[in-house]
Amino acid sequence: MSQKTIDEFEQRLKKHHDELRWLYMELYDNGSMFFELVERLRQFYLERREGLKEIDRQKERDPHWYRRNDLLGMMLYIDNFAGTINGVREKLPYIESSNVNYIHLMPFLDTVPGRSDGGYAVKDFRKIQEKLGTMEDLEELTKACHEKGIQVCMDFVMNHTSEDHEWAVRARNGEGEYMSRYFFFDSWDIPGIYEKTVPQVFPTTAPGNFTWLPECGHYVMTTFYPYQWDLNYRNPRVFNEMMANFLYLANRGIDIIRIDAVPYIWKELGTQCRNLKQVHTIVRMMRMIGEIVCPSVLLLGEVVMEPEKVVPYFGTTEKPECHMLYNVTTMATTWHTVATRDTTLLREQLDKVFALPKQYVFLNYLRCHDDIGWGLDYDSLSRFGIQERSHKAYLNDFFRGLRGLSNSRGELYNEDPVTGDARLCGTTASLCGLQAALESGNADEIDRAIDSVVMLHAYMFTLSGIPVLYSGDEIGQLNDDSYHDDPEKAADSRYLHRGKMNWEAARKAEQPGTPEYRIFTALSNLETLRAGDTIFSCQAEASTIDTGDPALLGLVRGLEGEELVGLFNFSNEPKTASAVRSSGRYLDLVTGQTHSISRISVPAQGFLWLKRMG
Ligand code: GLC
Repeated sequence: MSQKTIDEFEQRLKKHHDELRWLYMELYDNGSMFFELVERLRQFYLERREGLKEIDRQKERDPHWYRRNDLLGMMLYIDNFAGTINGVREKLPYIESSNVNYIHLMPFLDTVPGRSDGGYAVKDFRKIQEKLGTMEDLEELTKACHEKGIQVCMDFVMNHTSEDHEWAVRARNGEGEYMSRYFFFDSWDIPGIYEKTVPQVFPTTAPGNFTWLPECGHYVMTTFYPYQWDLNYRNPRVFNEMMANFLYLANRGIDIIRIDAVPYIWKELGTQCRNLKQVHTIVRMMRMIGEIVCPSVLLLGEVVMEPEKVVPYFGTTEKPECHMLYNVTTMATTWHTVATRDTTLLREQLDKVFALPKQYVFLNYLRCHDDIGWGLDYDSLSRFGIQERSHKAYLNDFFRGLRGLSNSRGELYNEDPVTGDARLCGTTASLCGLQAALESGNADEIDRAIDSVVMLHAYMFTLSGIPVLYSGDEIGQLNDDSYHDDPEKAADSRYLHRGKMNWEAARKAEQPGTPEYRIFTALSNLETLRAGDTIFSCQAEASTIDTGDPALLGLVRGLEGEELVGLFNFSNEPKTASAVRSSGRYLDLVTGQTHSISRISVPAQGFLWLKRMG
């Protein structure tokens, strides 16, 4: 190891040392554990491959690389997509043909089938599920991706381990050192106090926040499923070991670490145990640790909450936390707009997001592996006399095809018998009516569903940030009803949209006229346009505009004198935008035609991308 590379580590450490030490001591007041942490950082730095260190240096020189307009993500399950990690490597040409240069590999670490929560109950952070491959396969995949300019994202499930993790097994056997890594209680006294203030994540499939372990006579805290034991980050051993796991995975070539369920990682009696200030201390320390050892690695925080709670996870300019966060309220509000065909609330939501500093990078998406929770701004909706409970019921009915003109094919998720609350599952295409339309064979309905899928993607691509496709959406993949017959999955309706990639359908994406072809080529065209025009970069100013019709969303992007107007029709009727711009000629980026747009018509479920000329 040359002096030069060691100096590189020491310089990065020096930059962050004082703040890191201060935060660590404030949380743990334990100098020897801090010393141990720093030694391990040095070790992980020394072990990091030269190829990855080169990527670190490149990205350090271009720290805003992820704010560009040419990034497009796709999230996929390795087994559903290609069987194994090596299978994914073989499918990289398909990923490239989909214009994707960022793949999120859904959880693939060792887990126990049937007690896995889709891989979010990790048994061993350094082992890959045998059916998917090995750590060497992962390294080969990340290398192959890097050669093609593809970034690789993975989940880091740091709030809990599986009950089958070595620590949990030893804790269950009564080893005090390991019990102290979780929350163990020998009576209901303290759990009972927690239950007074801590809400439930899975009220139907996993009620309560504690699980009784009869064999050792203790309760253990289990915020999610009973087999997912919450880690106790008050114990510095837990922090140090989990940071070592993070760096171990980063050193396998992972570029983006999705911090799963991050708001939950600190618990405090008498609180909701969400978003506590210590969570931010931990994320800030993690950011610095990454910048010291593997500065090219980005942190993507999973904060599925209202905007006021999401934004603090960006930290401040001087003390940044996550690089990226999910634009979750926008996603939920988008589906609300699909159901109501009224863009008023979406406009308000987008105005809030557009008003945030431009260095905040959001991950935009229509669907992901989870349900759609109806976290909307109900205070705003109440101005129109819309109440939360009845509105959620309306949305859930709509997306199950029970209301109005809906031909959606969604299913409920975690219906709470007490509050009447429920969330929703289904793929984009099935929620947009494609499944029902194909079943009925009605050509007009098929057209309308395809138009709606494409329009929603066009709208998503117009937002600032990184758009991420849910694998299969690029060919309009439908729901997978077979999960109902699988005892390991039947209770969790999220499997409705976690079906196997339909490669036969993917081949149809090459046959003109098929729905797969129509969706794939339309998205491809939009993705290419987006990647080629900096008006879509995070640097551009974005705002909404009044179109004169509530069903028609108007978005404007501006950068260095250029302007793009996007119009998106959420209704099943053609709509006319009046006076969005009274003068000037605009180029329709999709058709190549030019228009004056003082009055312009947008087809049912259609959209326009209009760029000002000259
Ligand atoms: C995150 C994941 C979700 C999982 C939960 C528990 O919210 O997105 O799928 O159930 O964490 O790990």
